[in-house]
Amino acid sequence: MMNEPINVVVTGAAGQIAYSLLYMVAKGDVFGPSQPIILRLLDIPPMMGVLEGVVMELADCALPLLKEVIPTADPIVAFKDVSAAFLVGAMPRKQGMERKDLLSANVKIFKVQGEALDKYAKKDVKVLVVGNPANTNALICSKYAPSIPKENFTAMTRLDQNRAQAQIAAKVNVPIANVSNVIIWGNHSSTQFPDASHATVIVDGKPQPAIEAVKDGDWLRNVFVSTVQKRGAAVIAARKMSSAMSAAKAAADHMRDWFQGTPPNQFVSMGVVSDGSYGAPKGVVFSFPVTIKNGKWEIVQGLQNDDFAKEMLKITGKELEEEKVEAISIIEA
Ligand code: NAI
Repeated sequence: MMNEPINVVVTGAAGQIAYSLLYMVAKGDVFGPSQPIILRLLDIPPMMGVLEGVVMELADCALPLLKEVIPTADPIVAFKDVSAAFLVGAMPRKQGMERKDLLSANVKIFKVQGEALDKYAKKDVKVLVVGNPANTNALICSKYAPSIPKENFTAMTRLDQNRAQAQIAAKVNVPIANVSNVIIWGNHSSTQFPDASHATVIVDGKPQPAIEAVKDGDWLRNVFVSTVQKRGAAVIAARKMSSAMSAAKAAADHMRDWFQGTPPNQFVSMGVVSDGSYGAPKGVVFSFPVTIKNGKWEIVQGLQNDDFAKEMLKITGKELEEEKVEAISIIEA
């Protein structure tokens, strides 16, 4: 039995992440094999020609679940009746640009998109912000969409989680599926804290704490953390372009788990509005471990953080508070 089609918007649709993401979404990786979709593709006017090419390729993929594709530069058209929003498009950081300049350009974009979501999207729309600075962009977007619950705005740290999982799997020499519950805390930036303290690794068929499987505390605190934090830069150095295929896969993973739920005994990391859990500042979009059921996420409670972890959370939380203050000062200027 096929469901009624749902509207899904992808912004930055002519860009490189969208180029991989659209295929995953349109072939059923996110909303499942019984969920037809209408794709609404937003980009800026100069990109409409490129977007037309993407639309041609989507048609040529001959995907049965894809009922309609609507390319547009108009947020009103893009956000109409959407149930899911992948906000990928953002102003990229250019050379010599300060964080304030980057925030300023993005506050404008996410204000417009928040307002359009507020007016035209479904009230239960699930919004994933990928475009950087993702956490603060999600916060701004939610601020301008007051009729949509704050819980419906999230930022992507799933790529960092997937990277962290891959590092542990390689270190212990097990398949990636044997590693679970690695956490990314805080901001999707170089202050993020990739944390394997609560992770599990299945070795020879037996689940064990990652710390015991890795048997190298020094590696976990130093090499592991900095490799994950700097992985984006390493990909740029090698590919001369930023992570795109892996970012698209992570966006698909994030939205799939949000719609379809997390597996038993497993949690995933998502940037969500902070309630102050684990000493994180309240009211910023902070990445926490969450479990998801019936489309609702819940922050995992009761994990014991050591002093090292507490200090790392403090650093990334402080950065998010600073970004929030700067973003608000831009809005109020
Ligand atoms: P890209 O430059 O290839 O594509 C971005 C697209 O967004 C362009 O087509 C551009 O025209 C469009 N765009 C710009 N302003 C727009 C607006 N106001 N409305 C609609 N579209 C708009 O960039 P790419 O590689 O696809 O990356 C997109 C974003 O994702 C960047 O901000 C990047 O930093 C971020 N990113 C985030 C990750 C995460 O883990 N959260 C991982 C990797 C990238």
